[in-house]
Amino acid sequence: MREVAVIGVGLTKVGHLFSESLRSLFSRAIRGALEDAGNPKIEALYVGNMSAGQFNNQENIAALLSDFAGLNGIPATRIEEGCGSGAAAIYNGYKAVASGVHDFVVVGGVEKMMDTTANDATSIISTVTDQEYEAFLGLSLVGINAMVMRLYMNTFNVDREPFAKFSVQMHENASKNPYAQFPFKISLDKAMNSNPVADPIHLMDCAPLGDGAAALVLCPKEYAKDFTSKPVEIIGAGHGMDNFIFHTRDDFLSLKAIRDAAREAYRMAGITPDEVDVVELHDAFSITAFLSIEDLGFVEKGAAGQLVDEGLIGLDGTLSVNPSGGLKARGHPIGATGVYQMAEIVLQLRGEAGARQVPGAEIGLTNNISGFGASSYVHILRV
Ligand code: COA
Repeated sequence: MREVAVIGVGLTKVGHLFSESLRSLFSRAIRGALEDAGNPKIEALYVGNMSAGQFNNQENIAALLSDFAGLNGIPATRIEEGCGSGAAAIYNGYKAVASGVHDFVVVGGVEKMMDTTANDATSIISTVTDQEYEAFLGLSLVGINAMVMRLYMNTFNVDREPFAKFSVQMHENASKNPYAQFPFKISLDKAMNSNPVADPIHLMDCAPLGDGAAALVLCPKEYAKDFTSKPVEIIGAGHGMDNFIFHTRDDFLSLKAIRDAAREAYRMAGITPDEVDVVELHDAFSITAFLSIEDLGFVEKGAAGQLVDEGLIGLDGTLSVNPSGGLKARGHPIGATGVYQMAEIVLQLRGEAGARQVPGAEIGLTNNISGFGASSYVHILRV
């Protein structure tokens, strides 16, 4: 296996981008990444996307997007793994370079969600859960998260405040991120008293709907120095899976897919969780963030709220969580999210994250999940 580095990053701001189409959005991210990488000759394209068919009535998008992004003629593949599609595309691009199949690949993620109504978007998002036992009965993804949040609160004797504080921190970080959908701060009062969506989840516990695209250029580490003075190496990659139907799992408060992916990524990187400086994790809902913090091994079960309460997840905390503002406030254009996460870690490790820079960050980790943790990817990067 060859060592693999990220040499280019391209991002669009996340939001209600009504003046852009799926293809124009994606092309813009790709152009940014290629320019950042010094325009190497690309051999393959991997596109992470959850549901262009339902959001945009457009399938067969790998061929479409490679053509419009100026990459016509190279192998292009779309990768779909629900909310984890972006990280799944990275994992496949990584394997293509590590194995020697390709030298220079582009990995992109795109989702254009705002061309539909919020009701339709909720139904489309629910297709990442089981249609026969869950969605059919009216159980949406937010509904599953709400039940788990209630169980977590009862089991660990935690109230809503630490969850609300998490969201306050995400907005604080996003206020420093020019690519964020919600680049403004919110008060604890606003987070606590925002409208209930599915009790105990309130609006400020949720990631929003949004459009966005992000892209990365990967190549063998040995070639990276010819293109950038700051290559960022992918030193660990793990993929974990769990029972697809939520109620068949042994433990509702721990996501096995995250634990398995993390174990593999830490083993490969030869590091322990306490060596990670900065993490971009999957806070689709504040409860998902708490489970992720715990299942990645940063704290014991039930202790994520304490980490938040003690102010340790901020930019200068012992574990900086989601300096981008996370899914909550940077935004969650679903199939692009995993790529946004890695792009943020690359900018952090290159020291190019501006006002949201985590001081001295050298090791970063990303965690992207699908559905309610049916699968999970963990990548570890080092500068
Ligand atoms: N956080 C903060 N503000 C939000 C928000 C969020 N998650 N979602 C919407 N808003 C804001 C909007 O910007 C808008 O503000 P404005 O009035 O100042 O313009 C206002 O709230 C109402 O927006 P609207 O689009 O009507 O919200 P909505 O009720 O249609 O949607 C949710 C709210 C919670 C249903 C929607 O954000 C949602 O479905 N989130 C979860 C997405 C999800 O499940 N993703 C996949 C997870 S893996």
